[in-house]
Amino acid sequence: MREAACMTAEDENKKGVVTRRALLVGLGVAGGAGAMYAAMGVLGLAPDNQARGYAPPQRSDFSLRGRAAAKVVILGAGVAGLATAYELGKAGYDCTVLEARDRIGGRSLTIRGGDRLPEMSGETQQAAYGDGVYFNAGPARIAQWMVTLDYCRELGVPIELFVNDNPGAYTYNSGMTAPVRTRTARADAFGYVSELLAKATNEGALDKSLTEGDRERLLDFLSGFGDIGEAYTYQGSTRRGYQTDPGIASGTRLGPVPSVSEVLGYGLGRTVAFPFDYEQAMPMFQPVGGMDAIAHALADAVGRDRITTSTQVTKITNKPDGVEVVHSGGSTTADYCVAALPPHVLARIPGNLDAQVVSALRTPVPLAAGKIGLEYRRRWWETDERIYGGITETDLDITHIWYPSYGFHGTRGLVVGYYNTGPEADSYARLKHAERQRRAVEQGMLIHGEKYRSELLTSVSVAWRMQPHIEGAWVGWPSYEVGFRLLQEPAGRVYFTGDWLTHLVAWQAGAFDSARRVVTKLHERVLKEG
Ligand code: ALA
Repeated sequence: MREAACMTAEDENKKGVVTRRALLVGLGVAGGAGAMYAAMGVLGLAPDNQARGYAPPQRSDFSLRGRAAAKVVILGAGVAGLATAYELGKAGYDCTVLEARDRIGGRSLTIRGGDRLPEMSGETQQAAYGDGVYFNAGPARIAQWMVTLDYCRELGVPIELFVNDNPGAYTYNSGMTAPVRTRTARADAFGYVSELLAKATNEGALDKSLTEGDRERLLDFLSGFGDIGEAYTYQGSTRRGYQTDPGIASGTRLGPVPSVSEVLGYGLGRTVAFPFDYEQAMPMFQPVGGMDAIAHALADAVGRDRITTSTQVTKITNKPDGVEVVHSGGSTTADYCVAALPPHVLARIPGNLDAQVVSALRTPVPLAAGKIGLEYRRRWWETDERIYGGITETDLDITHIWYPSYGFHGTRGLVVGYYNTGPEADSYARLKHAERQRRAVEQGMLIHGEKYRSELLTSVSVAWRMQPHIEGAWVGWPSYEVGFRLLQEPAGRVYFTGDWLTHLVAWQAGAFDSARRVVTKLHERVLKEG
């Protein structure tokens, strides 16, 4: 099995067998991913987009209708813009993508050694990370149900597990005297909550809500959920972890068990429950080598010659028979325009979009998030603390510490020293990078001690509000009402797309879903009107 999986198309051809895979690889080289994808469809290998209610446009859609693929100018080479160009490309649309930044990907930004990161403050960081070390400064995890994984499959982007929940990482809230392993915090919280509920049940407090049978079943559930046994009393359990791990000897259990008041005083609701969220539940995934692999695979499939970076749009004019986009490199006319920019940036671009549309673009509120990627000379979290990926949750202003889900047992490694949002992110954004690092390290030391400072090599931080041409991590809609609905429709020949036009704001899956919707609507119109 293993051998077959590693066989190249060349090997397969040498054996004189033109396998379906060899044919596809050959087509991919000669005709790009669009041709390969079309062939996959014919061979019945394409992912079942229909299952998600999406049918990609195809060249053959035009054949009986006397219409031809149109010319489309796409503003923004983030995930939504690139996905739009990629999907339209399947039907032969002539797409041009204009990107204001000097790189593609938008917020899907992976920083490696040598990269420059300018901020609107005027400060520019220069990443000095070692070989193979990368920092996903934007999106960093993909849930198994998200359409993003379908694109990874379709584009051949290899993925690996992203450890989003590790009970061996820590929980540190200000109510605690010291950080505790998340497994211990969970065991204590679930144990005491189960005990309290069991007592209330036994004392008849729930008699109005439960039948006798329900009461028994609830007690049975609590006994297992909280590990409180038949006595319905939490006394700690092996779930808390060990001082000395079991092996030849039985191990020394962790103790003493804190009192119920102490555990309630931790304020654990948010931090303990985080991986219960639908978007955050394991298993989660990441592209091997950095999140930007998705954007790069899209760009390769679209054709790099169709994408122009460092090109800022200065005017968008809807005309009866097309759209004119004026930009720093000249002007581009097309039959249609798809604007895949953040709404607050798009709203400022002059042109003739009507006032209602501009007002709708101003409705979603840009929000703040920030991260710092700390590179360490050794992987002390693995060697000294037995933490392999996952997240420490805190109520400090760093909010989280992420341990890497790649490069296990390597020499160096990158820890995300803060990932915060809202006022915490804004307060870090106001600092220069060196000060952000100092503050993040000081707080991380509360959890990991002196090595958190002494083993640090270098770092890069991102404040998304300060990123040129992006100016926000994501947006919040005051309500998904008038403006949200209005922008789902084109304004003349200008369409809008982005995660911000979905109920999956701040996820690449939102960008993909929105792009698919716009592509479908645009293609329907071209088939009808030309
Ligand atoms: N998608 C963002 C995250 O996973 C919000 O943190």
